[in-house]
Amino acid sequence: MLRAMEFGAAGLRILDQTRLPSRTEYRVLKTPGAVAAAIRRLAIRGAPAIGVAAAYGLALAVGPEMTLGRARSRLAAAAALLKSARPTAVNLAWAVERVLAEPQVAAAQDSAALSQALVAIAAAMEGEDRAFGQSIARHGARLLSGVRGVLTHCNTGALATAGPGTALAVILELWRQGERPAVFADETRPLLQGARLTSFELGAAGIPHQLLVDGAAAWLLAQGGIEAVIVGADRICRNGDVANKIGTYGLALAANAHGVPFYVAAPSSTFDPELARGDLIPIEQRAEAEVLEVGGRRQAPAGARAWNPAFDVTPAALVTAYITERGIVRCRGGRLVWPEAETPAGEVLS
Ligand code: MRU
Repeated sequence: MLRAMEFGAAGLRILDQTRLPSRTEYRVLKTPGAVAAAIRRLAIRGAPAIGVAAAYGLALAVGPEMTLGRARSRLAAAAALLKSARPTAVNLAWAVERVLAEPQVAAAQDSAALSQALVAIAAAMEGEDRAFGQSIARHGARLLSGVRGVLTHCNTGALATAGPGTALAVILELWRQGERPAVFADETRPLLQGARLTSFELGAAGIPHQLLVDGAAAWLLAQGGIEAVIVGADRICRNGDVANKIGTYGLALAANAHGVPFYVAAPSSTFDPELARGDLIPIEQRAEAEVLEVGGRRQAPAGARAWNPAFDVTPAALVTAYITERGIVRCRGGRLVWPEAETPAGEVLS
């Protein structure tokens, strides 16, 4: 399995996703500032992955030789920096706050103990995200079993998480179980996460697939044959509204217009119980150059301006179901209904 990141004595080693698929380049990040910068420039990206990277980023703030006072003030500064790296995916702030709230962090009596605790907590979060992805894949494959064609958007696989992924992991699991749906992936303008990264992951898994320009998705759905659309999420509000990669909302509208189920696959760390509705989600605006240029070369005429929101919000009414590590969640009467229990065999009773 591809690994987006790996923590070791030298620092946080990440696969630089801005270079894929033409180059496989790793970078070793040694400071919280370097982790925040890598998150901002999308060298590491995807909601769960940036949460885990931020947790490791906090561990990089503290050295065992520092005074405890200095270690704690560096930790606070790193937390603020990492949380502000990108605004939309709730996993980032969630991960930072969760690390700081762990009892071992408050209890540490010296910087060596604090440093050790931070690394252990980040590693536990990485392991948890991996397990969540495996569970999402299992639940999703059961739900989508039998579909003849599936369409996805952006990149939601191993590169976007610490494990097998979310939406893409469901597709991979279907194939692993011997199902053979036709797989389609939006290229995902402007940064081409679909064309560069999802296609790379599908290719590595030996899964035949076709890319399409984002503007072709509605027309593909009109042809029939696509029996499920499945995407990931950056934040899911209390009422079920979903922020995800720009283009997701249009895809959900088109899927609904053609009677195709629209699924959102995400771990519980992507659900934001603090936020009531989607219009309250901060949407990241990125540089105009991402739209005006392709591959670093200007395409638009001089003087042209661009509007470049990185995410959009899909209303809960357009979402058929949410696939989580705890099972299938549905939105009923404006609130999310979680599965009450799972049998030991992992069967969902909802
Ligand atoms: O800007 P990106 O590439 O970080 O956006 C990623 C997405 O929108 C993904 O769909 C989302 O983070 C879920 S990743 C499992």
